[in-house]
Amino acid sequence: MTQIAPIAIIGTGMAGLSAAQALHAAGQPVQLFDKSRGSGGRMASKRSDAGALDLGAQYFTARDRRFVDTVQQWQRQGLAAEWAPALYYVRNGQLAASPDEQVRWVGSPRMSAITRAMLGELPVNFACRITEVFRGEQHWHLLDAEGVSHGPFSHVIVAAPAPQACTLLSAAPKLATVAASVAMEPTWAVSLAFAEPLHTNVEGCFVQDSPIDWLARNRSKPGRDNTLDTWVIHATSAWTRQHLDLSKEAVIEQLHGAFAELIGCTVPTPAFSLAHRWLYARPASAHEWGCLADSDLGIYACGDWCSSGRVEGAWLSGQEAARKLLAHLP
Ligand code: FAD
Ligand code: NAI
Repeated sequence: MTQIAPIAIIGTGMAGLSAAQALHAAGQPVQLFDKSRGSGGRMASKRSDAGALDLGAQYFTARDRRFVDTVQQWQRQGLAAEWAPALYYVRNGQLAASPDEQVRWVGSPRMSAITRAMLGELPVNFACRITEVFRGEQHWHLLDAEGVSHGPFSHVIVAAPAPQACTLLSAAPKLATVAASVAMEPTWAVSLAFAEPLHTNVEGCFVQDSPIDWLARNRSKPGRDNTLDTWVIHATSAWTRQHLDLSKEAVIEQLHGAFAELIGCTVPTPAFSLAHRWLYARPASAHEWGCLADSDLGIYACGDWCSSGRVEGAWLSGQEAARKLLAHLP
């Protein structure tokens, strides 16, 4: 009996996993690849001495009916929970409460719980950076950074951020050109953890006119294991671009200073700190492509950059890539 060649999916962030789940549910074999040691991409959570920290996506909203249904399913499975932080904003250095009615979701007990469950038992190669995607006479093959070839595959879905997807799409120049047109902005993320809780009610804060864009009290999210008072601070894209090559120590020092200025209470030296640079954090603008497809060749691209630049956009984009692929099967 001839074995059906699986579909290769490059990237185990929300978009790649969304596509993988839809294809698996339709009875199609998939094989996933990620250059990282684990799944989740920008929804990954960092394990640290202060407990797990959500350094990338902070929360997500659900506006599309299909995504709302999926999030409710995650909630029933105990993978997602509502986070209703005491919300604030800072403008011109003034901190003010800013409550609203928006429902915000987080993975529970950490952001990566959702993507980990989505991956489940699907076959995956971690720590495997794909450098080339090429087509033989009938099938697709992948080459990784170690020079190892993978394949054959019936189709390929590239679910990496646009600048990384670009080179992987060279077999489909039209798709590569579109991916090359997408600029993605970087974000420095810093976590500070304090032995004694800070004397503030702030749990989440949108910031303007500062190097900081957003800050969150990680421990205020449901189910977190943080023993210390942990905070996650995101710099603005502009500040990050200007300080892209600053050392982690200097980034921590500068954002700690900016945090102390705006939080409105005494901020001691943190018991623990770390910095992480997201080079491709968010698309510079939103698009409405859904996904990119060359159905005749059998290659697709998906990711938040094809849609809204949010967790929901990534999920929808993965669904769309799977839908287009399935619609083109004989
Ligand atoms: P990714 O999560 O980036 O997944 C791509 C995967 O591809 C990665 O795992 C990567 O390792 C892998 N990969 C790349 N190149 C290769 C290769 N050559 N070979 C193998 N693997 C490869 N969204 C919200 O909705 N709410 C928020 O509050 C929010 N805050 C954010 C804050 C920050 C700091 C960041 C960085 C993002 C935030 N986002 C937020 C955006 C959200 O995280 C993303 O929209 C979403 O997670 C993107 O999913 P994705 O699958 O498209 O890409
Ligand atoms: P949302 O509806 O909570 O926020 C959208 C935007 O509305 C916020 O950025 C903020 O400017 C404003 N806003 C919302 N509620 C507010 C309030 N109570 N007070 C003051 N301003 C408020 O969530 P949505 O639409 O799902 O957006 C996701 C979030 O993820 C955004 O904040 C976005 O900036 C952030 N994000 C960050 C990235 C990064 O690299 N730092 C990457 C992608 C998304």
